[in-house]
Amino acid sequence: MALEKVSEILKMADRAKTSAIAFNCVDYPMIKSVVKVAEELNKPTIIMLYPEHARDKHWTTPAVFAAAVKTEAKKVKVPIGLHLDHCSDYNYILAAIKEGFQSVMYDGSMLSVEENIKNTREVAKAAHALGADVEAELGRVGFANTVTDQSDEDMYTKAEVAASFCEQSNCNSVAVAVGTAHGFYKETPKLDIQRLKSINAATDVPLVMHGGSGVPDEQLEIAFREGINKFNVGTEFFYLYYQTMQEFCSAGHPDFFDLPLLAQERLENYLRTKMLLSKL
Ligand code: 13P
Repeated sequence: MALEKVSEILKMADRAKTSAIAFNCVDYPMIKSVVKVAEELNKPTIIMLYPEHARDKHWTTPAVFAAAVKTEAKKVKVPIGLHLDHCSDYNYILAAIKEGFQSVMYDGSMLSVEENIKNTREVAKAAHALGADVEAELGRVGFANTVTDQSDEDMYTKAEVAASFCEQSNCNSVAVAVGTAHGFYKETPKLDIQRLKSINAATDVPLVMHGGSGVPDEQLEIAFREGINKFNVGTEFFYLYYQTMQEFCSAGHPDFFDLPLLAQERLENYLRTKMLLSKL
């Protein structure tokens, strides 16, 4: 089928009281692996691009990335969503939508709640006019290499603010800070499930969990039941990819051109275990 809207995938996840899994990718072998395993397990799945991987690191461009995801999605029956991850640049977001991203994140988590609402609302107005969904962030999911980011309750999402934030910002989904952080954790995270329940009770948009690498499965199972409908994973997926390349080169393989196939096989094994966490 063609690409599916991320909001539709999140509705499916909500009905099934579980989460769809969203993977950060940078290139074709990663994209191809995600689509292949999603089809094999029949798990509606979301593929995400970090703008900095295109804009600053030049791994790809939004247009090239969108075309690759669309090409692969067309070959399968399982719904595949395409999403632009963390972006706070209005013009970049609009350009990406025009290049095929039907779902985008406006990240205003560094701003005051009022400014975050104002900017998210502006992005949502423009994005909705072009038929795209907008994920917002309330509270701030920081970085796991600063241990305090995952445990600093000042950064956590406040349930009492969440309802009015979602209503006023017009977002289609909201990323919440309940004990996760981006990157490799120095200490095992401990999700604030009570807070997640309160946010879920207070809002009626799907909730998103960032910082998925390294969160124990038992905690995820509860979080998915208690309102998380989109679960983002990046670091551990990238790490496996680069580690595979490194091992391949150190082993002095006679044929460099076997690397993509080996990498895809390793990525696919990882993706199977991750996707099976979703009850979709
Ligand atoms: P990790 O890189 O920590 O898995 O987080 C991914 C993420 O939240 C992308 O938005």
